[in-house]
Amino acid sequence: MPSDALSAWKARLHQGLSALEASSQRRSLAEIHGVNFCSNDYLGLAGDPGLRAAVAQAVSNAEKVGGTGSRLLSGQTEEWRVLEDEFAEFAGTESALFFTTGYAANIGLLSSLVGRDDVVFSDERNHASLIDGIRLSGARKVIYPHLNLNALEDALRQASGAPWRKVIVSESVFSMDGDTAPLVELANLAEKYHAALILDEAHATGVHGPTGHGLAVAAGLAPKVLAIIHTCGKALASAGAFVCGPGVLKEHLLNHARTFIFSTALPPYFAAQIRAALGLAEGMDAERASLLQRASTFRAALESEGFDTAGTASQIVPVLLGHNDATLDAAEHLQREGFAIRGIRPPTVSEGASRLRLSLTTRISEEELSRLLHSLVRWRSRQSSLAVARHA
Ligand SMILES: Cc1ncc(COP(=O)(O)O)c(C=O)c1O
Repeated sequence: MPSDALSAWKARLHQGLSALEASSQRRSLAEIHGVNFCSNDYLGLAGDPGLRAAVAQAVSNAEKVGGTGSRLLSGQTEEWRVLEDEFAEFAGTESALFFTTGYAANIGLLSSLVGRDDVVFSDERNHASLIDGIRLSGARKVIYPHLNLNALEDALRQASGAPWRKVIVSESVFSMDGDTAPLVELANLAEKYHAALILDEAHATGVHGPTGHGLAVAAGLAPKVLAIIHTCGKALASAGAFVCGPGVLKEHLLNHARTFIFSTALPPYFAAQIRAALGLAEGMDAERASLLQRASTFRAALESEGFDTAGTASQIVPVLLGHNDATLDAAEHLQREGFAIRGIRPPTVSEGASRLRLSLTTRISEEELSRLLHSLVRWRSRQSSLAVARHA
């Protein structure tokens, strides 16, 4: 018989899930069917035969296929050392330190870097891992409206008399909107107000900037930024993330970042996978250009049909539909028509900003984009006829 306490806890959990269900916010694990518009495998490397062969080779050559311990204990190997050196070169920084997920990288970085005597200025649309890292750090925080540099400057000015160290945190390509932060202007503000800058390049890694090296490199800012986060689970078709920056930052992190210190290393063959993916990604200039061109043509086609794509300019194309119900209905319609597309709703985005998030990859053809556009147009006409019928 379950104890009273266990029964009470289970009842509480059921209640919480029912509340989510009632507001159509209950999540579930579902496999993807149809043309995949939910994938962050932007360069299509997850199914690449060359990458698969490199992984197989690395596994068969590996001395061990387990991580065996934290990098500070038995998990450190030559493969990780070489990869981190190569990745620092890729990022244009002095050093790079690998964390087993991007989430762990951001939590480890922020919670070990800033504290009660610091203030963090964070874009309101920053990823949950940045938000949670800031929360965990105990630093003061100022959340500025998305990409609003006037508001950021006002806040920096107000804080300029205070004794706190200041850090600005932003994504370079925003994950939900696909828009990009004005990095040069952010860096100028950071300089003017003696703040450090941290950039999360998760959705730029491998896709944006020269040879896919990211937008900080494109803007010539990499050596001036305190930390750049490059994730490997998206365009690099692997997992994990690098925190890149000055050499002293790496030393600080491996001494203080708890998500690095108290976590088992990934197996050494995984370093070979990331290294191979990096090599392949660097040679994909034509694919990058064609992906971004296709996204821009698709966005223009959506806009000419009257859809709001929020004027973004990356491989992530949002279709803003506003209401939860409309977004859910559109996503279901598209799924029935063979497209794997999810509706993004609050709390992931703010109230009234529900949208379809279309993540374009090199695996999606122009013909599939055209079919998707027609399907969306059909959905909207059906919505309009229903609305007319309701008011008749
Ligand atoms: C901007 C951003 N940062 C960090 C992460 C976390 O990376 P990971 O999925 O490797 O934990 C994500 C994941 O979606 C992200 O979009």
